[in-house]
Amino acid sequence: ADTLGSAAAAQGRYFGTAVAASHLGEAGYVSTLNREFDSATPENEMKWDATEPTRGTFTFSAADRVVDHAQAQGMDVRGHTLVWHSQLPSWVGGLGAADLRSAMNNHINRVMGHYKGEIHSWDVVNEAFQDGGSGARRSSPFQDKLGDGYIEEAFRTARAADPAAKLCYNDYNTDGVNAKSTAVYTMVKDFKSRGVPIDCVGFQGHFNSNSPVPSDLRANLQRFADLGVDVQITELDIEGSGAAQADSYARVVEACLAVDRCTGITVWGVTDKYSWRSSGTPLLFDGNYAAKPAYHAVLSAL
Ligand code: XIL
Repeated sequence: ADTLGSAAAAQGRYFGTAVAASHLGEAGYVSTLNREFDSATPENEMKWDATEPTRGTFTFSAADRVVDHAQAQGMDVRGHTLVWHSQLPSWVGGLGAADLRSAMNNHINRVMGHYKGEIHSWDVVNEAFQDGGSGARRSSPFQDKLGDGYIEEAFRTARAADPAAKLCYNDYNTDGVNAKSTAVYTMVKDFKSRGVPIDCVGFQGHFNSNSPVPSDLRANLQRFADLGVDVQITELDIEGSGAAQADSYARVVEACLAVDRCTGITVWGVTDKYSWRSSGTPLLFDGNYAAKPAYHAVLSAL
């Protein structure tokens, strides 16, 4: 196979990218996207601030542009994200508990309802745990006002809203075995034991020199898979360049392929020039859409 998507498909996996609606008018962006990838995640367009900036008023135009493009190309779509402390309009934080609970469930119902049957996997809850060794939940309006139970409530609401979508918990700095990933693991294990609907765990995979690809990535993916959930690399980018960057990318691909339930990999953007890591070069294509050594390493690892 000579593209990321077709090579991954030959392994029974998908290979996706974050897509920004604002770049869909750029020929080089679109031709690279269409040629190489078979899954798309809207980079910002499905987030709460984009879809419900004012309570009860929903806007799907930008997200629809990404979804329509992906569908026209036969790509799967990952939904990102429903309940997250960031890119959250300020009105949400001003609600009391009862109102917040109904706003959260309404948000899930309306956004998932708009895309019902069209989303492969949804990041239902994103980044709910703190960094570091505490294993504690992160402070957010949801956590602070609704308590630990908001996560399972979100998943139960999501299951009813679109029974065809795989429901994922997604986080960062959880790629290796560490206190944070173990806190997520403990939650997923509890959900599975009590029948709370969860199908997948997303590992963002934002790596740099302070946070390199962990040597126990495969082992960590496997322990989650052993709980009975799929695992996915959802936002992969790796700071660096040249052979070192290429080697790191290859190791992530190899770890996923070594785990039966690792169903796919998404990189967090098509080209370095539009990466959210504005100062870096963390992606597979340079600013001119030339394939980097990291691209060739991924392709040969697939
Ligand atoms: C980032 C986007 O790439 C940026 O364009 C935006 O300004 C901020 O969010 N974790 C996530 C993603 O789950 O949604 C974030 O995306 C990157 C970190």
